[in-house]
Amino acid sequence: MDLIINKKKYSVNSTPEESLLNVLRNDLDLTGTKYGCGEGSCGACTVLINDVAVRSCITKAASVEGKAITTIEGLATNDKLHPVQQAFLNVDVFQCSYCASGMVMSTVSLLKKKPEPTDEEIINGMQGNVCRCGTYPRIMKGIHEAIK
Ligand code: FES
Repeated sequence: MDLIINKKKYSVNSTPEESLLNVLRNDLDLTGTKYGCGEGSCGACTVLINDVAVRSCITKAASVEGKAITTIEGLATNDKLHPVQQAFLNVDVFQCSYCASGMVMSTVSLLKKKPEPTDEEIINGMQGNVCRCGTYPRIMKGIHEAIK
């Protein structure tokens, strides 16, 4: 199957049942997308499909053939970080950073839908992303920094 990831076409030999997360990490070495729970509950594996945040661990790779898949590796352009990445760095959002990729991808998706979300909309929009270090106030601060 052919997958379009970060605007580049990849030919992948995988079974129809293979998760997008496994294909990204194991076949294509795009390891910025993380494995957390493997069952769609933590958000560590979040990528964008046609600009919408999805859990790649419960998404079959075959189901997104021909769609625009964006991973954390595809956000920066011309050696410049995506504004959300830069904002999160500016305010030191992360502690262990395991959730960082998923948090950034969900934020990018949220801000595409709602460029100036309220705190309530941010909380609702980020609900599926878990931070085991509990840096939620800093994540909120990072999102506000990105909105500026
Ligand atoms: Fe996919 Fe947790 S690893 S949601």
